[in-house]
Amino acid sequence: MKKKILAAVLSFGMIFSINPEKIFSVTSAAMMNQNYDLNFDTSCGIEKTLNYEGREIKFVAYENIVYVANPASAESQSLSIYIPSEYMSGGTVNGYTAKTAPIFMPNGVGGYMPGKILPPVEKDNFTQEPNATLTALSRGLVVVSPAIRGRFTVENNVYVGKAPALIVDYKAAVRYLRHNKNLLPAGDVEKIISNGTSAGGALSAALGSMGNASEFEKYLQEIGAANERDDIFAASCYCPITNLENADAAYEWIFYGENKYYPAMWQLAGANATADDANKPKDSEVAYDMTVEEIKISKVLRDAFPAYVNSLNLHDANGRRLTLNRNGDGSFRDFIKQKYMESAQVALYEGRNLSDATWLTIRNGKVIDADLSKYPSAVTRQKAAPAFDKIDLSSAENDEFGTTSNQPKHFDSIVHDIYGGEMADAEMIRIMNPLNFLGRNDVKVAKHFRIRAGAADRDTSLAISVILTLKLQEHGSTVNYFSPWGIGHAGDYDLDRLFDWIDSICK
Ligand code: DHB
Repeated sequence: MKKKILAAVLSFGMIFSINPEKIFSVTSAAMMNQNYDLNFDTSCGIEKTLNYEGREIKFVAYENIVYVANPASAESQSLSIYIPSEYMSGGTVNGYTAKTAPIFMPNGVGGYMPGKILPPVEKDNFTQEPNATLTALSRGLVVVSPAIRGRFTVENNVYVGKAPALIVDYKAAVRYLRHNKNLLPAGDVEKIISNGTSAGGALSAALGSMGNASEFEKYLQEIGAANERDDIFAASCYCPITNLENADAAYEWIFYGENKYYPAMWQLAGANATADDANKPKDSEVAYDMTVEEIKISKVLRDAFPAYVNSLNLHDANGRRLTLNRNGDGSFRDFIKQKYMESAQVALYEGRNLSDATWLTIRNGKVIDADLSKYPSAVTRQKAAPAFDKIDLSSAENDEFGTTSNQPKHFDSIVHDIYGGEMADAEMIRIMNPLNFLGRNDVKVAKHFRIRAGAADRDTSLAISVILTLKLQEHGSTVNYFSPWGIGHAGDYDLDRLFDWIDSICK
């Protein structure tokens, strides 16, 4: 057995003073449910080489390290560290040194399912392009990718990955890095940048917004996380499926009146879906009709949205209050319209033909208006109402708020008040939402956020990412926000720009 591991290790390339006993001991400890050593083992690195745009990228990989002392699921609470080889001999990459290289920390969570470690690959299955991890290495970043528990994670018949496990694990991985800052061969633990898409984007937003929040302490102690800070420097969030208890109302505020929907295939697949399916979704080509009941609740939810928006006391960059009247119109709606118009304008500058977008008014190459009432029929609805908290508790989010015995729960009080059933614990709903941590003295929010939500994304309302952006800005973070034209529910599609942004905030 040991020989086999060593042979596999050797076939990858050069080894940094490898100790096969140590590799083996991780595996056997996992099987015997022992405690894990939180000290980074500097001897377990393996040098590997991959090709990136015709260049050889050499890096040292330290893989599958359990990042907590008492994991609920060792496989789901392991991380891998990838370090550009130049840093092992005092070199520089892209102006960074071993000491100054930021730590890019992508998560592979999708659909609130377990997130896998994201090793560097030359050709992502979906895009056929180098993935974010390899691109980061090519730009001189250290990459740390943790696996994360999700709503399907089961150990000894117990569902150990329901809310808030994903946030707890991401935080624990940050703490592991801080705990080992003097042992890590490279990487600045004060320049950690998270990245994720969809539920993983929501998770990235949560990590960025909830630094050191005391609510998570008991969960972190339970799994034996290192006793360190867990705030981060910056968060990159693609199409975050966040603010779940208000996402139903936000969705109907945009999609009300459109009564056909085209569900995502991964949602139809239920327990057979994977996180990867969720982040690279295909939608059904068959239209489903909303039921009479769904059409009824659509209106109730839409009508509830203005009061929520007005309660937030939102302002634009000029200090103008963003509100909605009872009909759902007003300065907040104009602001959302503006985001779509900016998106279309950039697409026009890029030479794209937008003649299909009949909800826009374009004159002489300028987008001069957008009719949001026509947006739903143009992009189509993906989800019946309620979009997130399903009457029959069948959504990914109902499952995310489920119990350790896998009983799903409601989390939207409007839906729960009408249809009954079990509601998730109010405190659990509260701590899953980044908005509830902003403006607190005891919480350290990331300085920088980059948020992307495609103009053709129908998984959640654009209002959700805009509200998050406005609230982060109100509390002093800088937010680079954009809604790229023609992009649906996706992430990592503009990696050059993502890493340019990282350089701009780190250098
Ligand atoms: C994801 C997408 C959704 O539409 C949703 O409701 C939850 C998660 C995702 O892709 O992660």
